[in-house]
Amino acid sequence: MNRDLPRWYRHHGRHSLPWRLTRDPYAILVSEVMLQQTQVDRVIPYYNNWLGRWPTVAHLAAATPADLIRDWAGLGYNRRALHLHHAARAIVERYDGRFPSDILSLRTLPGVGPYTAAAIASFAFEQPVPVADTNIARVLARSVHGIPHQRDLPGSAMQATAAALLPTRSARDHNLALMDLGALICRGRDPQCDSCPIRRHCSWHTNGHPPSAARPAQPTPPFETTARYARGRIIHALRTHPSLDEPTLASLLPEPHRPNLPLYLAALAKDGLITQTDTQWSLPQHPVSPSPPRSVRRV
Ligand code: ADE
Repeated sequence: MNRDLPRWYRHHGRHSLPWRLTRDPYAILVSEVMLQQTQVDRVIPYYNNWLGRWPTVAHLAAATPADLIRDWAGLGYNRRALHLHHAARAIVERYDGRFPSDILSLRTLPGVGPYTAAAIASFAFEQPVPVADTNIARVLARSVHGIPHQRDLPGSAMQATAAALLPTRSARDHNLALMDLGALICRGRDPQCDSCPIRRHCSWHTNGHPPSAARPAQPTPPFETTARYARGRIIHALRTHPSLDEPTLASLLPEPHRPNLPLYLAALAKDGLITQTDTQWSLPQHPVSPSPPRSVRRV
């Protein structure tokens, strides 16, 4: 990349996002987990609230899962709250509450995948490591490889490209500049090439925007018909009731979901999001051992 990208970032970057104003690895872990499946604007109030309530890993480690699941209300993908809890407990137990700074140790933390480990190493500890979230991957797919979507490229190729482009100085700013370029200019739909600081060096742009070779994404079913919706309804009910039995939970679900209630309950219990005592279900008051996280598609 040339000097145009850092110059653009200085003027147009999202410098005041709250997780960019800190080097606290815990705060950065919280932000990255929240940002995994949620838009920046929606995350900001949750991030501020979370750090107000659980300001350190020690506070978080001492919380009950039920409290965290309640605080997560509205963010979706509730398992992320438990991932944060498991990571906090591991940092307290293994590292006496102090975050490891090397990427290999970060990777061993429960719920911390390759992307999140790289993000903490880069954004908190300013280590010269490449970071490749979907925005960065799209910028690199287009500018370096001349293809419109990162999904057309193997993750290993993307990692190699991100590593090859990493400058020896200011790697953190470089990663953040690419991220902002992807979010603000090199958008998935409707890229703003006329405003792009690197358009003259972009293979996809200079080749006339060739289309994707990949199959178009499949249409998604209405959210209300999905198991995720039904599981969300169950968790939502248990946020406001200390415990509920199965007939009551069934009555809270739309008719087509009711036969699947036992499956939903089993899946939520396996994820550690709910627990059963006799006939009653509730949010867990004590941590359940983490099962390996389902992988989040990051590059
Ligand atoms: N700044 C640091 N990490 C970020 C992310 N994942 N999304 C948006 N801005 C960020």
